[in-house]
Amino acid sequence: MKLKSLFICQTCGYSSPKWMGRCPDCNGWNTIAEEIVNAAPAARSRDSDVTPFILDEIQYEKGERLLTGIGEFDRVLGGGIVPGSVVLIGGDPGIGKSTLLLQVAEKITGLTRSVLYISGEESPSQIKLRSERLHISSKGLYIASETSVDEIMIHLQKSAYDALIVDSIQTMFTAGISSAPGSVSQVRETASILMSYAKKNGIPVFIVGHVTKDGTIAGPRVLEHIVDTVLYFEGDRGHPYRILRSVKNRFGSTHEIGVFEMREGGLEEVANPSSLFLSERTAGSAGSVVVSSIEGSRPILTEIQALVSSSPFGIPKRGAIGVDYNRLLLLVGVLDKRVGIHIQGQDIFVNVVGGLELNEPAIDLSIIAALTSSFREIPIDPATVVFGEVGLGGEVRGVTSADIRIKEASKLGFKRCIIPERNATQISTNAVEVIGVSTVKSAIDAMFS
Ligand code: TYD
Ligand code: MG
Repeated sequence: MKLKSLFICQTCGYSSPKWMGRCPDCNGWNTIAEEIVNAAPAARSRDSDVTPFILDEIQYEKGERLLTGIGEFDRVLGGGIVPGSVVLIGGDPGIGKSTLLLQVAEKITGLTRSVLYISGEESPSQIKLRSERLHISSKGLYIASETSVDEIMIHLQKSAYDALIVDSIQTMFTAGISSAPGSVSQVRETASILMSYAKKNGIPVFIVGHVTKDGTIAGPRVLEHIVDTVLYFEGDRGHPYRILRSVKNRFGSTHEIGVFEMREGGLEEVANPSSLFLSERTAGSAGSVVVSSIEGSRPILTEIQALVSSSPFGIPKRGAIGVDYNRLLLLVGVLDKRVGIHIQGQDIFVNVVGGLELNEPAIDLSIIAALTSSFREIPIDPATVVFGEVGLGGEVRGVTSADIRIKEASKLGFKRCIIPERNATQISTNAVEVIGVSTVKSAIDAMFS
C-alpha cells in the first residue's frame, strides 16, 4: 500500500500537495493540516458490470415515513424520518444535540422498535444520568460507548435495530485510515461507511457533528455533500430557545425551522413561536417594530429593535445581530439618499429579539421602520406589523406569501399591516387594516401619521 501525505483543509476539505497558511477555497487561516492517505487507486474488478435500468420499469417500495411525535422535529425533516436516510445534526458543543437525539430515540422506540445510540463522548452511565434527567425510560433503547466504526459494523451484522444514532462523528474512526479521529479523511470515510449501511439496510442513521470556529476539528461542512439531510441546531447559550434548521434535505423543503426551549427536564417544543418571540416586548418604545417573516413554510412574528444615537467619535459605529450587516448599510443609504432622513453620521445598531436570524428581504421595510422610529424618538403603534422588500431607488417591492404573514399577524391580535402595494391589491381581509405602500417615503408617512 503506497502512502502519501496530503494537506487538507479541516473546514472545507480542500486538498493540496503542499502546506499553506490560508485555504484558497474557504479562505480560512491555519485550517490546513497534514494527513496520510492511501495513494494507490482502488483495484478494479474486471468481471463486474454496471446494469442501467429503464426509468419506467424501476420498481420501488414506497417506504413509510416514521413519525417521532415530536412535531417540530418531524416537520423540519419534511414530515417524519425517511427509512434509509442519513441525517446530520450539526451545532456548537453544548447546544443540546445529544439531548435532542436521546429524546428522539425514545420516541422512535415507541412500543415495538429498537434504537442503538452510539456515543463516542460519554459513557453509558453518563447517558443514563441524562436520561433520568429527561425522564426517559425505554426497553428498546440500546446504548453503546464506542469509537470504532469497524466494531460497530461487526456488531450491526449480528443485531438489527430500527434506527442508529452516532454521537459524534468527530470521535469515530476506521482502521483503514491512519489519520486521527476528527480529521477530514476520517470524518468522510466513517460517514460513508455509515451511509452505505443506511442505504443497504433501509435504516435511518443520525449523525451528530460539532461545529467549531477554529479549524482544529473537521467541521461537518465536508459531510454536507455526503448525507441526505443536514440540520443545524442553533441558539444562544444565554437564551433557552433552540432552533433546528434544515439547510439541506433530499426529502423535503429546506429552510424549515423547528423551535424548542431548553428546560431543566430537556427540550420542549414551542408550538407557537410568534407569541414566544414577542413575549418580552415592551410595547410603545421607540425603535421597536414587529415583522412578519417566513421561515420555511410558516410565518413567525418577531420584534426588530434599532438604536440610532449620535456618535461620540469621528467614525460612526454599525452593528447588526440577526440581520445581514451589508443589508443594513444599504438600507441606511436608502434612508439617507431617497427619503432625506440623514442618519449616516449616527451610531446604528439593529437586533432581532430572541436570537433568530432573519435572512429574507421582506424584513427590509421593518428595519427602515425601526431605524426611523429610534432616530425620531417616536414609537410605532404596537399593534402594527410591517414587512416589504426595499429597492435602491427607495421603492417598496412585493414579497411572497403576504396572505400567510397577515393571517399570523391577525391571529396574534395585531390590527394594522403596512405592506407592499403590490401585495395589498391582491389581499382582501377584514380582520386587519391593510395599508399598501409603494415607496419608503409613503411607508414612513403611514407609520408616523
Ligand atoms: P448536550 O445535549 O450535552 O449538548 P451537545 O450534545 O450539543 O454538546 O446539552 C448540554 C446542555 O444542555 C448543558 O449545558 C445542559 C443543558 N441541559 C438542560 O438545560 N436541560 C436538560 O434536561 C439537559 C439534559 C441538558
Ligand atoms: Mg453531546
